[in-house]
Amino acid sequence: MQRTIFLGASGDLAKKKTFPALFGLFLHGHIVPTTRIVGYARTKMDRPDFLKRISQYIKNTNTPKVKAMLDQFLDQCTYVSGVYDQDSGFQALEHELKRIERETKTIDRLFYMALPPSVFIPVANGLKKNCYTPKGVNRLIVEKPFGMDLESSRVLSKALGALYREDEIYRIDHYLGKEMVKNIMILRFTNQIFGSCWNREHISNVQITFKEKIGTEGRGGYFDEFGIMRDVMQNHLFQILSLIAMEAPASLSAEDVRSAKVDVLRAIPPVVESEVLLGQYGKSEDGTLPSYLDDDTVPKGSKTATFAAAAFHIDNPRWAGVPFVLKCGKALDQQKVEIRIQFKDLTHNNLFQKDVAARNELVIRVQPEEAVYLKVTQKLPGLGMDTVMSELDLSYASRFTNLSVPDAYENLILDAVMGEQSNFVRSDELDEAWRIFTPVLHKIDRGQVPVDIYPYGSRGPKNLPEFVARFGFERHLQAYSWPETSQVSQTPAASASVASSSSDSKL
Ligand code: NDP
Ligand code: BG6
Repeated sequence: MQRTIFLGASGDLAKKKTFPALFGLFLHGHIVPTTRIVGYARTKMDRPDFLKRISQYIKNTNTPKVKAMLDQFLDQCTYVSGVYDQDSGFQALEHELKRIERETKTIDRLFYMALPPSVFIPVANGLKKNCYTPKGVNRLIVEKPFGMDLESSRVLSKALGALYREDEIYRIDHYLGKEMVKNIMILRFTNQIFGSCWNREHISNVQITFKEKIGTEGRGGYFDEFGIMRDVMQNHLFQILSLIAMEAPASLSAEDVRSAKVDVLRAIPPVVESEVLLGQYGKSEDGTLPSYLDDDTVPKGSKTATFAAAAFHIDNPRWAGVPFVLKCGKALDQQKVEIRIQFKDLTHNNLFQKDVAARNELVIRVQPEEAVYLKVTQKLPGLGMDTVMSELDLSYASRFTNLSVPDAYENLILDAVMGEQSNFVRSDELDEAWRIFTPVLHKIDRGQVPVDIYPYGSRGPKNLPEFVARFGFERHLQAYSWPETSQVSQTPAASASVASSSSDSKL
């Protein structure tokens, strides 16, 4: 793919994520010299201003070699200003594309819509009418959110479907480009040890947690309309859930992988209000950090949730009776995304009782500091037979010292360039996800689900521990703490038989 056309090129996503990702691809030789990247947006700016804007978040450019590469990359970027709802702007864009195509003798086009959803349809229309090339490949990347509920998502899908074929549409969920999310299928389907116990016989519950330390800070206008369930849970966390829960696909082809994900979603009944816990952040306990309502971009008196926990049940032979608890929140005590698979209690036996062997947990740390670790009970070194909880640890920073983890957008833009759709959301997948969420979202929109206030910087609503306990999650009670660095040092508890606890297993 020789041409990337970036709609909404003046925006936040463009400068913070996508242009740095495009430069990452350029640095690693994935963008060839004949590629041209064309920015398009309404903002009037000249080319130097555009280049300044898109390079401000590109990091580590202090060596002469990288600096020179950045200059070469920027030479390949141009900018066209135009509106989203009239042909004139798209005609100017087409004019620029034709000029480039005469120069580079290439014709394929990749359009990236980094725009508010209100303009997805007019822009998709304007592009089809004025900038669609009949001679080459056309691909359209659509950013989230894909609608507000089942009905609006279907309206959007129908409108896009009338303009572009499904194999031309790439609905991006950037979590599918994260290294550890891409690792889930490999972990599950290449390791006999996991494959054999990945089911209701052995697993008690699964927790998928997203925590951010910052609040909405200035993004409240967008956020307030959507709330945390639509912003993070229905898409990012649900994609993780489907990869953890799906059956092995028939092959690694995009269609087979996505069909396996849809199959598991079909087995999930809609989430119910009694299994949802909502919260909104107030001021921090010491009063120094602002509440959600203190944000000027948030409408006065808003009841929008900035924290949500919800339980999902999968009615199929593999997962019946195993709750999947998804939790996400802003302005919390930590920054992390992780998957915690908690195994069942030790089967009663005559040798060891449950209290000397806490539950095994497999933890996949998506970010920060990618890691996979398995919490296991071992003998505490010494003369006795005491036990201790420790971990089999694969921390990427210490294991893969000379490999870097690519950014999610690098992965996904490259996939779109290559025409690889496995890590993009298919329309039936989207439909199933909205089916599961829509009834409760409508109740939330009508104010029928209570929203508890939690302090900025806390663990979330005060009822969270009871909520997760309802779904079988067992928090270990003694001193065990996941060592954040590769220097694994175990601090055994004072008691003789050291079961476990973990600061990391609390939300
Ligand atoms: P912005 O609010 O920065 O909007 C992008 C551009 O769209 C703006 O520069 C502006 O360009 C144009 N625009 C803004 N508001 C309107 C409007 N009401 N009508 C028409 N055009 C408008 O958004 P982001 O860059 O943050 O996000 C773009 C898309 O990516 C969204 O769908 C968002 O949900 C998604 N996304 C963003 C993430 C992020 O980290 N920012 C993360 C994941 C997804 P101009 O006025 O120059 O035309
Ligand atoms: C976006 C949400 O999709 O994902 C944001 O709109 C959220 O609210 C972000 O902060 C998280 O992405 P990441 O890659 O920083 O975990």
